[in-house]
Amino acid sequence: MMRRNELAGPFQVNSQRPPGFVLRERGQDFVLHCEDIPLPKLAERYGTPLYVYSATAIRERLATFNHAFRRVRHTICYSVKANSNINILRLLARQGCGFDVVSGGELERVLVAGRSAASKVVFSGVGKSRDEITAALKARILLFNVESESELRVLAECAKRLRMVARVALRVNPDVAADTHPYISTGLRKHKFGVPINSARTLYAEAAGSRSLKVAGVSVHIGSQITDAAPFAEAIARVADLIRELRSNGHKIDYVDVGGGLGIDYQEPRLKFPDYVAKYAQAVTKPLRGLKVHLLLEPGRSIVGPAGTLLTSVLYRKENDGKHFLVVDAAMNDLIRPALYGAYHEIVPVVQFGDLAAKKETVDVVGPVCESGDFFARDRELSRVEEGDLLAILDAGAYGMALASNYNTRPRPAEILIRGKSAKVIRRREKVRELYSAEL
Ligand code: LLP
Repeated sequence: MMRRNELAGPFQVNSQRPPGFVLRERGQDFVLHCEDIPLPKLAERYGTPLYVYSATAIRERLATFNHAFRRVRHTICYSVKANSNINILRLLARQGCGFDVVSGGELERVLVAGRSAASKVVFSGVGKSRDEITAALKARILLFNVESESELRVLAECAKRLRMVARVALRVNPDVAADTHPYISTGLRKHKFGVPINSARTLYAEAAGSRSLKVAGVSVHIGSQITDAAPFAEAIARVADLIRELRSNGHKIDYVDVGGGLGIDYQEPRLKFPDYVAKYAQAVTKPLRGLKVHLLLEPGRSIVGPAGTLLTSVLYRKENDGKHFLVVDAAMNDLIRPALYGAYHEIVPVVQFGDLAAKKETVDVVGPVCESGDFFARDRELSRVEEGDLLAILDAGAYGMALASNYNTRPRPAEILIRGKSAKVIRRREKVRELYSAEL
């Protein structure tokens, strides 16, 4: 296999996401593969739009995380919201992974993926209902990350009714700014998340006074798609101070849940993933040194993001007054990140012809949905592709299918999990009838 990055000239330099997605030579051309399977083969067999994931990439990324934190007691609680396909949860559970859930629905998915994973589940979120709390208590999850005084009382009430004791961490809001999109920044005072770190003491005292609650830890999550380690270190330093204080007040703090949020490089990879995670691990563990806590980590995107691609076909080429559009068969309902956050996703032709590669053009890649916000790229320089050609929208493994909707009565894509030479349908394509059958 030729490494694309080593090729001079016309080729897209940044189009590999090993070990999941690599370009392989086919005569004069290059074809994007997921592990050992050429993507055109999958498109032919399962149709487009299609989500394709690499099991090996997911497993390796999880292993990299575990390796980076090998010197401290830790549990990775993969954040289910990033990609909640049961088969992916099962793959992770088999590697010993725990889970971060934010709803009764996510908890149920985890239990279906592997009942024994419940003992490694943390339950986060500002609006847990009584039913959801009760279900989580019955499943005997590891930890409730409580986000308000009212929730603490409801949790105590639910636990008391079941004659159980709920293990509790308070999610504190450290008032730390993180450089990310405002919709996914969560660690500032103005955000709805957590309890202000300064009022946490009073709430810990209240929790300790309840026989249905057991104070067990502190949790924090400052946002998502954060690529700089400094805000993590800053938030965790504040948490470490709080732990010292809580311990001196007699509270038993065994767990520190540092949340998720480690970003990925949607554009140019700056560091190799192992070096990048090692840096993050250092930022997270340094402030906690000597505290002898069990670390809980809730990565989502960094585990599954680069392990998935959205495969789409070019329906039409179109020119409006000199502006070029590629109308593809995927749309904002399938992958909403560009429309919702202005997010960048790299897009590459699945087959790159040696001789045509020099022909570049500047295009908007858009979907069929009736909104101008329905785009995947604007004014993007791409190698010329024709109607019927395939494009791969890269790094779509996290918050792709998880945020997909049926807007415009569009069935959601199928999902395929690749392992070496084998392809497994882990979610079949929806049928239009299913979309309206609950209305009949
Ligand atoms: N833990 C908590 C409490 C969270 O709220 C989140 C993400 C995570 C963990 C996982 O964060 P990650 O490691 O994936 O960054 N839809 C947005 C991202 C929303 C993130 C919400 N919370 C996007 O597509 O960028």
